[in-house]
Amino acid sequence: MAVLVTGGAGYIGSHTVRLLVAQQREVVVLDSLELGTKSRIGSVPFYEGNISDEKLIEKICKKHDIDEVIHFAAYKAVGESMEQPLRYYNNNVAGTINLVRALLANGVERLVFSSSAAVYGNPNSVPVTEEEPMKPESVYAETKAVMERFLASCEAIGLRTVSLRYFNAAGASADSTIGEDWSMSQNLVPLVMKAILGFSGPLNVFGNDYPTPDGTCIRDYIHVEDLADAHIKALDYLATGGKSLACNVGTGKGTSVLEVLDMAEQVSGRKVPHVITHRRPGDPVSVFADPTMVRALLGWKATHDLRDIISSAWNWHSKAEANS
Ligand code: WQD
Repeated sequence: MAVLVTGGAGYIGSHTVRLLVAQQREVVVLDSLELGTKSRIGSVPFYEGNISDEKLIEKICKKHDIDEVIHFAAYKAVGESMEQPLRYYNNNVAGTINLVRALLANGVERLVFSSSAAVYGNPNSVPVTEEEPMKPESVYAETKAVMERFLASCEAIGLRTVSLRYFNAAGASADSTIGEDWSMSQNLVPLVMKAILGFSGPLNVFGNDYPTPDGTCIRDYIHVEDLADAHIKALDYLATGGKSLACNVGTGKGTSVLEVLDMAEQVSGRKVPHVITHRRPGDPVSVFADPTMVRALLGWKATHDLRDIISSAWNWHSKAEANS
């Protein structure tokens, strides 16, 4: 019996594959390598391909006796999604439908899905609970919400699922051998590192006139290795008969943009070159999780704090300076 990890050569996927292997689980990775990097996953059985290739899914399921799946594969650039709705719905939503059809045809009954707190849009209140209605504000987030609803409906035809609504994933592996690719990410932490190391101009801080203590937006930054652990606990929850659910995966602590910059300066011993610019359209003022459900049902909680996150990111990204 083995777990199939779609998108397993990606940022969060590869950290999850690492942890599965460390726990002596049989793992197989399917990745199109459009966004993933094969070197991240070492010698794990690997198939380059698309989640819509039902013949390939059948071949993998039969050859490796797949009995559970972690589904990361998706396009996830918020801004790009607004310009390319057809590409995002086809890849993310139609791809997932095709994947599920092939999995069900091959007897797979358990799937963990990589969702996002972006399904909440601008939440009515924080900390955000799962009672918060889904009000996605980008095509990317809409596809995540549609996939969640589709997967929840599949329990009626024999597929039990857990949708994990990530807050802001950040950081890198403890041994600094894998991490986020700042050429593929517009997220805050890798861009902070790029600015410190001089591989970009000053960081743009998108607005300091928000109704928060220091005027900058608040988010829930979660260590990528903690996030990987949440996926494995979700697999175990389903393997012991758990019913389908969607739950937040976050620390429950809100951190502002300037607090991230301050921690980066403490950890690196260097200044973060930055300029305060206009607000970024669509940015919610404050989004951080209420992790009560994930703790109660999956037995998961974050073990890394902001300093761990930023230190691991610094150790990973500063290798670029050493290699330049
Ligand atoms: C964090 C904060 C920015 C860059 C997005 C997606 C979400 C998820 C995580 C996939 C915000 C500020 C950022 C910069 C800045 N992705 N910022 N200057 O927008 O919270 O979430 O990524 O699942 O779906 O929406 O993350 O890292 O882009 O921004 O000031 O150059 O940092 O305004 O307040 P975000 P982010």
